[in-house]
Amino acid sequence: MVHAAYPLTVDQPYPREQWWVAAYGAEIGRSLMARDILGERVLLYRTLDGTAVALSGICPHRAFPLEMGRLVGDAVQCGYHGFTFGSDGACHKVPSQSGVPGHASLRRYPAVERGGMVWVWTGAPDRVDPALLPDHDRIGLGGPGWTVDYQKMVTIEARYTLLIENLLDLSHVTFIHSQTIPGGEKVAALPVDVVQDGDRLTVRRKAVSMPANPMIRAQFPGQEGAVDQEFDAEYWGPCLIRTGGTISDHATGQALGTQNFIHMITPAMPGRLHYFVATTRDFGSDNRALSAMNLAMGERIQPEDVAAITAIEQVLRSGTILPREISARVDNGALRVRRLLEAQIRAESVSAAA
Ligand code: FES
Ligand SMILES: [Fe+2]
Repeated sequence: MVHAAYPLTVDQPYPREQWWVAAYGAEIGRSLMARDILGERVLLYRTLDGTAVALSGICPHRAFPLEMGRLVGDAVQCGYHGFTFGSDGACHKVPSQSGVPGHASLRRYPAVERGGMVWVWTGAPDRVDPALLPDHDRIGLGGPGWTVDYQKMVTIEARYTLLIENLLDLSHVTFIHSQTIPGGEKVAALPVDVVQDGDRLTVRRKAVSMPANPMIRAQFPGQEGAVDQEFDAEYWGPCLIRTGGTISDHATGQALGTQNFIHMITPAMPGRLHYFVATTRDFGSDNRALSAMNLAMGERIQPEDVAAITAIEQVLRSGTILPREISARVDNGALRVRRLLEAQIRAESVSAAA
């Protein structure tokens, strides 16, 4: 029997003392929307002053979905019997009586909006710490001098760990993306270096003296000479992986620019995930053609990864007996991330038991 949290060997599928992306900021407005996050329905909206709010999304009276209710100022009125909850989650009004039952409130999730993303904290409220968010400035998500393009969010029928492992292992490019990433097999064959810095782990590849292909020439007009290009996969915790890196002129060693793909992963349920992708670059800010090219490429490549991980999820759910797992040298980074993630989840169950 496959372990329920495969490929992890812990009892809980995901850590809860963690920030996760709930939505793109642009998705949230003055109408109610709901999104499943770690098995909980989360209600998202903006107060009149524009602040993004995240509350539990099921009415505690008779389990009516609150996104089918309405906003009254900053408060949420349930669409079934009209119980009304403030943006702090407290129940203010029960239309059929004068008082409010004790403990009638919605959970409020701490929320932070940064770099075009709305993040929610799913852990204990007293342990919330914005310093635990990935460093948005370092990855170019919203800082000055960076151009950010956001891909459409997709919900995938697969456990989130399959996407994490997919992103840390570039050797799949040769097979899954043979039609969409020409020459990708050369990149996949580059030697891999795994560098760990605390809880952050980077799988590094560097292509040296690559001819300036049409993509490079589009990104850096006038670049005729060979380039050196980094192909990193940097794990910032289970919520975010950065891929991409800096492209430099080979002859001079001078950096031409950095382009990152920021993959943000949020478990919806044990076997379902939400996937947000932003491209960040520190060059060609006014070049809309580059943005269009990145988005078009993402739209062609992403379904190939989605198809691969949903196929694996189907195998895992089918109950079929799995062969004993074997790993190649290239899996080193993904295996170390498994251990990091397991340690994070185990540490939570120890602190919860204490
Ligand atoms: S179910 Fe929400 S008020 Fe009754
Ligand atoms: Fe891929």
